[in-house]
Amino acid sequence: MARDVWVLHGPNLGILGRREPRLYGKVSLASIDRVIVELGQELGLNVATFQTNHEGALVDRLTVAMDEVDGCLLNPAALSHGSLALADTLRSMTIPVVEVHLTNLYARERDRQISLTGGAVAGVIMGFGPASYELGLHALAAMIAPAKARRKRT
Ligand code: DQA
Repeated sequence: MARDVWVLHGPNLGILGRREPRLYGKVSLASIDRVIVELGQELGLNVATFQTNHEGALVDRLTVAMDEVDGCLLNPAALSHGSLALADTLRSMTIPVVEVHLTNLYARERDRQISLTGGAVAGVIMGFGPASYELGLHALAAMIAPAKARRKRT
């Protein structure tokens, strides 16, 4: 049985490719999404992707994800460093969430070296550019038991 996964991208990731290419590269988010959906097919995962610039929209998506899918891959972007609300949501999750970052946060400015969300997820992969998403999806696939039934609230 194929498992369902949401890949969630936070603020400013919609302009990848045009945004500080020296840091984040020239690959667009659409291209990352295409690769990750194809990789999902190879791993037996139905992948749907979503990008938002809004903290509350991510909180809402993650809350719904618990009822709808088997796991999430999340790049919270700048919200990683400042959103207690998102960290609280992640701590409440009943499905695995893997956090990914294109850049290595430990090699960035001091304020980016702290991820409030990183301590609230199953694990974090960072620093490999778009490949962070691929590595993260492999990690997530390994965490989701094949036969696990979708969690539905009763
Ligand atoms: C990022 C790192 C964040 O510090 C930054 O705000 C981003 C992208 C990354 O993928 O490297 O928007 O999450």
